[in-house]
Amino acid sequence: MREILTVVGARPQFVKAAPVSRALRAVAHETLLHTGQHYDDEMSAVFFDELGIPEPDVNLAVGSGRHGAQTGRMLAGIEEVLVERRPDLVVVYGDTNSTLAGALAAAKMEIPVAHVEAGLRSYRRDMPEEINRVLTDHVSALLFCPTEHARECLAREGIVDGVEVVGDVMVDALDEVRARLDRGIAARFGIEEPYLVATLHRAENVDDPDRLRRAVQLLGSLPLPVVVPVHPRTRAAMERHGFEWSGKVTAVEPLSYVEMLGLVAGAEAVLTDSGGLQKEAVLLGTRCLTLRTETEWPETLEGGWNTVVDLDGDRVREVLDGPPPRGSVKGLGDGEAAGRIVESILDHLT
Ligand code: UD1
Repeated sequence: MREILTVVGARPQFVKAAPVSRALRAVAHETLLHTGQHYDDEMSAVFFDELGIPEPDVNLAVGSGRHGAQTGRMLAGIEEVLVERRPDLVVVYGDTNSTLAGALAAAKMEIPVAHVEAGLRSYRRDMPEEINRVLTDHVSALLFCPTEHARECLAREGIVDGVEVVGDVMVDALDEVRARLDRGIAARFGIEEPYLVATLHRAENVDDPDRLRRAVQLLGSLPLPVVVPVHPRTRAAMERHGFEWSGKVTAVEPLSYVEMLGLVAGAEAVLTDSGGLQKEAVLLGTRCLTLRTETEWPETLEGGWNTVVDLDGDRVREVLDGPPPRGSVKGLGDGEAAGRIVESILDHLT
């Protein structure tokens, strides 16, 4: 049997790996390596439980830190595991420091890298995620693009070999839990419909005090109740600057996958700087407003399902008061991405 090593480390990667690992384990031997980038139970363990992901075989427990130190610890730890286990291929997901560390460790040992969610670009080199995904794409042997747009982005950088549009694995993941979303979650927070959901965690919003203040003010100025599951990075920054939530905001702890999707499904709209949530919202039929200056997922803009509003309160109110979205978003995938990925990996190795 082929030996595949999968590297995960941060919350969205647990979601993305769930359907792929399941398909992979039917035909190959998978070693699951958790870098420990996310370590709190509500940022990690709860996702493994809900999504039925097996316990990681290796947990490097690198924890938090500055980019260089954190990525460096991962790189050294992953290399040791690669030396010991000599996998035929390494799978990495998305664009976190764990992604880059896994890709770099493997590429330096001439072990082929498969990058799931290849080809996304914001063309903003001040985003750590952009650096991580560009470098990962350039050392990967297999590049699994979620969308046609992602394939075009790679082609513009001269990357055409090993590229395949397979669809978005987050569609597969969402399909797996669609029947068991936690629809009662808003009521448990004492919130009745209509309500909004907001999340904020990107370094470009959270680490810049001016932008964080503007974002907090914007959420506090909205006419509907706003549930904000607060990422630990955001909580720490709020405390550092002495900022407080205001208006109709209810701040809650980070939620599990089925809780979060249940909350989003019942919401009037989602305001977020997350990449994954933009897609999850529109796939659940909830309008999204993206609190950034660009999106890596232009497909979601179709029919007005998603709107890039940055932190512009007037624009937010205009969209919320405007006509509802039309039609449906296409081009994100059919829920069969994981099967295609595994088939392609096996083909590549034979
Ligand atoms: C990381 C990714 C980001 C992704 C996000 C998903 C990078 C560069 N960024 O950002 O692309 O969208 O994950 O959530 O890889 N912390 C805890 N408990 C935890 C994890 C983190 O308290 O379990 C706190 C620590 O104070 C830490 C901070 O959150 O310093 C940031 O964590 P980090 O892993 O550096 O980046 P994220 O902001 O989570």
